[in-house]
Amino acid sequence: MLKLGIIGTNFITDRMLKAAQETGQYQLTSVYSRHLSRARDFGQQYGATEFYDSLEDFFDQGDFSVVYIASPNSLHYPQARLAIENDKDIIVEKPAFVNPHEYHEIVKLLKDHPRARLVEGARQIHTPLFVAAAKQLKKMKQVQGASFTMMQYSSRYDQVLNNADPLPNIFTKEFAGGALQDLGVYCVYDAVTLFGMPDSSVYYPTLIKTGVDGKGTAILQYHDFTVVLNFSKTTNTYIGSEIHGQRDTLWLDNAADFHQATYFDEEKKAHELSADVHRNPLYDELIDFAKLFNNPNDAVEETKYQRWLKLSQEVNQVMYDLRQSADLVFPADENY
Ligand SMILES: NC(=O)c1ccc[n+]([C@@H]2O[C@H](COP(=O)([O-])OP(=O)(O)OC[C@H]3O[C@@H](n4cnc5c(N)ncnc54)[C@H](OP(=O)(O)O)[C@@H]3O)[C@@H](O)[C@H]2O)c1
Repeated sequence: MLKLGIIGTNFITDRMLKAAQETGQYQLTSVYSRHLSRARDFGQQYGATEFYDSLEDFFDQGDFSVVYIASPNSLHYPQARLAIENDKDIIVEKPAFVNPHEYHEIVKLLKDHPRARLVEGARQIHTPLFVAAAKQLKKMKQVQGASFTMMQYSSRYDQVLNNADPLPNIFTKEFAGGALQDLGVYCVYDAVTLFGMPDSSVYYPTLIKTGVDGKGTAILQYHDFTVVLNFSKTTNTYIGSEIHGQRDTLWLDNAADFHQATYFDEEKKAHELSADVHRNPLYDELIDFAKLFNNPNDAVEETKYQRWLKLSQEVNQVMYDLRQSADLVFPADENY
């Protein structure tokens, strides 16, 4: 059983802990929160026994080997640094880090602490349906382009419209928020996982009054095709995602929350891809991560780990290139 510590006590940590329980591979032991009472109230429901409001004590004294970091985006970097320095395995929520400078420092630190491993919660690429879609894509004779779409109106945008104080973290530059960071990252993950690094990329954001992007369109240019990413936290969509072959098309109902994938062959005949869809979207990644953490000397797991780490860095680079193309700068970028 992997002993687990958590940072962040919002709904996503709840969802993660429910999935973790279902896997039967993790036991929550230690909770960090800025407020001790919050750490207790949140953690006791899941059987935690240690509660901290000091991050240093959490890492120094906490009885856990894996830490799940689900704090606002700009805090991932300093918290992951502490975790690595304490030789923990780390599941960091997406987007792992704000820019390639941060990632570079993390990779350097990981080399000095070989017992620590770091994975990013890019949950959709671990789902059997995405794996089945990737397999189907390999059988397509040609790719002429793709579009990945993820648009979900955020209830926290109402707070922006109502001039709430403080503003929700996810809509601030201080916490490295915005649509690209929050939802666009899933679309970038889809593209980079399936097609690799683009030759060039450009982002057309729609800015909101806090200075971050509420929605936007990104274009990734590959050698002989283009991938269009559409994402938003200020509106909804009812269209899915598509990969365009010659006469054939691979369709997914979403860019990350997949429930259905259909291959339309050259005669336009629909073939539904069959794969288990777990009701908790974090379940599949937690199964994959547990295999890695439980088998530190397994060559197959190590190969997978290196692939995920490289992919995560590539996604981070594309995200940064997109922001650069749109002059979207965060305070965390100015530390370098
Ligand atoms: N994989 C997914 O499906 C998914 C879904 C949603 C979010 N996420 C990711 O999870 C992470 C957290 O997102 P979220 O929306 O939950 O963020 P959030 O509500 O802004 O903050 C998450 C937690 O961080 C702590 N926190 C909040 N404000 C803070 C501040 N000013 N300084 C220090 N700590 C603070 C809080 O815990 P305490 O009060 O206990 O300290 C809070 O519960 C993000 O990276 C996001 O991208 C992933």
